[in-house]
Amino acid sequence: MAWTLTLAVCTLAAVALAAPFHNDDGLRVELSVVDGLLNRSTDGRIILMFAPAGIDPLDDYDVTSSPDQIFGKNAFKLQSPEAVTLSGGSNFSTDLGVWGWPNVSMNDLPAQSYSVQAFLTRYETQMRSDGSTVSVRFPCGDGAPSIDGPGSLKTSITNVTVTGGSQTIELAFDNITAGQDFNGSEIGGCHQGNYEDTTYLKYVKIRSEKLSRFWGRDMFVGANVVLPHGYNTNDTAKRYPVIYSQGHWPGDGGAFRYSRDEAFASAWNEGVVNANSSESRPTPKLILVTFRHETPFYDDSYAVNNANMGPWGDAINEELIPYIDQTFNTIAQPYARIQEGGSTGGWDSAANLIFRPDLFGACFSSYPDSLDFHRHQAIPLYTAENAYQLANGSIINSIRTFENDTEVILASTAQENHWELTFGTSSRSFLQWDVWQTVFGVQGYNNYPLEAWDKVTGEIYPGAVEYWKHMDLAHYITSNWDGEKNLGENLRNRIFVYVGERDDYFLNGGVHEFDSRVTAKGGPGWANFTYIAQNGHGGNYQDREIWDYLELLSGWIEDHSPEGATPLPRGVTVPSARGNYWEEVLAYGGREAAVARQASPVIYQHEKPRKHDTSALKASVGRWDPGMSLEAVWLLDSKPSCQPFAVMPEQTVTYERKHRWSRHAKLQLAVTGRKRGYETETRKSEFVWI
Ligand SMILES: *[C@@H]1O[C@H](CO)[C@@H](O)[C@H](O)[C@H]1NC(C)=O
Ligand SMILES: *[C@@H]1O[C@H](CO)[C@@H](O)[C@H](O)[C@H]1NC(C)=O
Ligand SMILES: *[C@@H]1O[C@H](CO)[C@@H](O)[C@H](O)[C@H]1NC(C)=O
Ligand SMILES: *[C@@H]1O[C@H](CO)[C@@H](O)[C@H](O)[C@H]1NC(C)=O
Ligand SMILES: *[C@@H]1O[C@H](CO)[C@@H](O)[C@H](O)[C@H]1NC(C)=O
Ligand SMILES: *[C@@H]1O[C@H](CO)[C@@H](O)[C@H](O)[C@H]1NC(C)=O
Ligand SMILES: *[C@@H]1O[C@H](CO)[C@@H](O)[C@H](O)[C@H]1NC(C)=O
Ligand SMILES: *[C@@H]1O[C@H](CO)[C@@H](O)[C@H](O)[C@H]1NC(C)=O
Ligand SMILES: *[C@@H]1O[C@H](CO)[C@@H](O)[C@H](O)[C@H]1NC(C)=O
Ligand SMILES: *[C@@H]1O[C@H](CO)[C@@H](O)[C@H](O)[C@H]1NC(C)=O
Ligand SMILES: *[C@@H]1O[C@H](CO)[C@@H](O)[C@H](O)[C@H]1NC(C)=O
Repeated sequence: MAWTLTLAVCTLAAVALAAPFHNDDGLRVELSVVDGLLNRSTDGRIILMFAPAGIDPLDDYDVTSSPDQIFGKNAFKLQSPEAVTLSGGSNFSTDLGVWGWPNVSMNDLPAQSYSVQAFLTRYETQMRSDGSTVSVRFPCGDGAPSIDGPGSLKTSITNVTVTGGSQTIELAFDNITAGQDFNGSEIGGCHQGNYEDTTYLKYVKIRSEKLSRFWGRDMFVGANVVLPHGYNTNDTAKRYPVIYSQGHWPGDGGAFRYSRDEAFASAWNEGVVNANSSESRPTPKLILVTFRHETPFYDDSYAVNNANMGPWGDAINEELIPYIDQTFNTIAQPYARIQEGGSTGGWDSAANLIFRPDLFGACFSSYPDSLDFHRHQAIPLYTAENAYQLANGSIINSIRTFENDTEVILASTAQENHWELTFGTSSRSFLQWDVWQTVFGVQGYNNYPLEAWDKVTGEIYPGAVEYWKHMDLAHYITSNWDGEKNLGENLRNRIFVYVGERDDYFLNGGVHEFDSRVTAKGGPGWANFTYIAQNGHGGNYQDREIWDYLELLSGWIEDHSPEGATPLPRGVTVPSARGNYWEEVLAYGGREAAVARQASPVIYQHEKPRKHDTSALKASVGRWDPGMSLEAVWLLDSKPSCQPFAVMPEQTVTYERKHRWSRHAKLQLAVTGRKRGYETETRKSEFVWI
């Protein structure tokens, strides 16, 4: 035989890996680290940006408008004064080579003058309590940016003219982005530092026991608490309802942009709306809370327990909210706790009521991220084969606007996913589509989120999508309608959802799907939906003016208080209604579940083979994660007996015996699995005599 298994695998691997490095004729960028900048080696993500000459590459790197060309490459054990070379780039080099946007390969970079800068997002490798190990960036009270966060290495901006021919550019990392300079009473070091309290805006932060246990390091969660006019710490008899306002990293801003909107803040502080008009009225007396809960994957944890980010739902609801109730004069009862928010915060707020009917009274969820994955943005996730294109060839779009009543597409789902991939592989870009893989999906066998589709091609993996169902809120509600959780009764009249039919991110689709499923079960009015035809993404619930909205929330609380017109029945806030338990979430999607999903190839043979048996032998290729592409080969006495052949997961393959059974050779099935983000792995069956 002219080749061996080892050789066959090596040959394939070499072809796959060699492509990006065969670029002697193209553009090469050699990146070094100046002496003394790094005192130990680091892993991370290199992001190399070419902006038009004279423009700061960081000015605009948004997918819809950026003039930049961006290239990313993972770095392993980078150290001063070593150099890393970036060149080429292809669909197959996302893990070890270059991947770029909008040009995948550096060789396609148009010849012209650029303003060039490179960054290194540093990763730390951390083993989590379930035995999974990931290499990620831990944010630092900075809102988890995709690039140039505190601690990142950077080069200075350099003017370069790209010639289009063979060319080498040398750049040096010579600076580290400074950390946030918190001047408040900071606890926990470089992690969600605290700001300085003002009269009505208080910053709290606690070390989460549960998150720290999962991550194997100190993890903190914070809140910005806006107190109402007239609040007196000492008057503990006077207590206030709390509006939990969910959404992206607020920095030092209070809920509803308290510290960013002067008119709002001054009315709030003075306790009077329209102070100088005949319509002047008191501000609603509420405590407004927003959370600081950035994670190693995003600026917002989605405020639920999930196997990739950890027990954030518990950290907020079981640790931080009790701390808030202890520290401030709140009414610590479900009817006096409202969940609200828009977009990401729309999903967070809905999920928190739906998973915790025992804790909150109602949710007012505006233009939420998909509540029902029959439409994940515009992707029909359960039926489509590709996340970027429908079967009839139609492109699936991601971002739009309307001009003069005409829809204008700003980015397709493919474009946005490809752009994200420059900032991080294995869902580590800190961007939107990646965090959905993280929070809705489970852990992959590679320890990173089990992505529902291939980030480059868009091919959907139904086996991975199946795991999203526990975060599909319509599926969760309808499958717990009766029974122990009894959500059909317990959630009735407590869910309020608003969306504009011109939502910039097509999120109206998921609301309609959710509406149709819960309404089919509960009848019209089971939950309250508002659709406004001309509206896009943004604004308060039902597009209300801020004071109208807060008065609506205040009115709901008053009506549902024990003294109100329609008190919230005790029976609907029972502990049995609760879901999203951390232990269940981890058992469903953590390391043990990922390992249990795997199986080695097995050859089936009669227990006692008969002499002179010529019947074919059957074998299973084993179980692998969704999306693995598999290749099998039969080994005779450890040597390949054939060319490797492609197989499907869980396929049964057959070995045709050339000889009668005579115990003359040992037969094994070897299967090699490959997938983006996974190390190539070969698994062998036990041998059987043939
Ligand atoms: C490495 O540098 C950092 C920051 O400059 C410093 O805090 C740390 O102590 C240094 N570590 C070693 C091993 O020198
Ligand atoms: C780089 O180019 C910009 C505009 O093209 C120019 O203003 C600037 O002076 C140049 N910088 C250097 C260091 O040459
Ligand atoms: C590379 O990017 C430029 C500018 O975005 C574009 O015009 C060009 O078509 C791209 N080339 C390839 C091969 O994709
Ligand atoms: C490093 O960057 C900081 C800003 O983050 C800047 O103030 C400083 O001058 C830079 N140092 C060098 C050597 O370029
Ligand atoms: C604290 O930091 C804030 C914002 O960074 C700044 O406005 C304020 O002046 C600082 N306070 C002190 C005492 O340095
Ligand atoms: C609350 O009580 C503390 C200690 O008794 C006192 O120092 C403080 O002034 C009081 N605050 C108000 C607003 O009455
Ligand atoms: C209301 O009137 C007072 C006194 O005339 C003035 O100082 C204040 O700016 C006015 N406020 C608004 C919101 O117009
Ligand atoms: C493809 O199907 C979608 C959904 O049914 C439809 O909206 C679209 O117009 C179709 N596109 C083409 C090119 O037929
Ligand atoms: C929209 O209408 C305005 C005013 O008629 C016009 O100036 C503008 O060009 C139109 N925009 C588009 C995209 O048609
Ligand atoms: C890379 O993948 C994209 C998305 O599937 C595809 O459109 C493109 O043709 C591929 N390019 C190459 C060179 O295979
Ligand atoms: C839905 O809720 C809004 C806000 O509370 C209310 O104005 C509206 O009447 C409700 N709709 C229905 C059908 O109950």
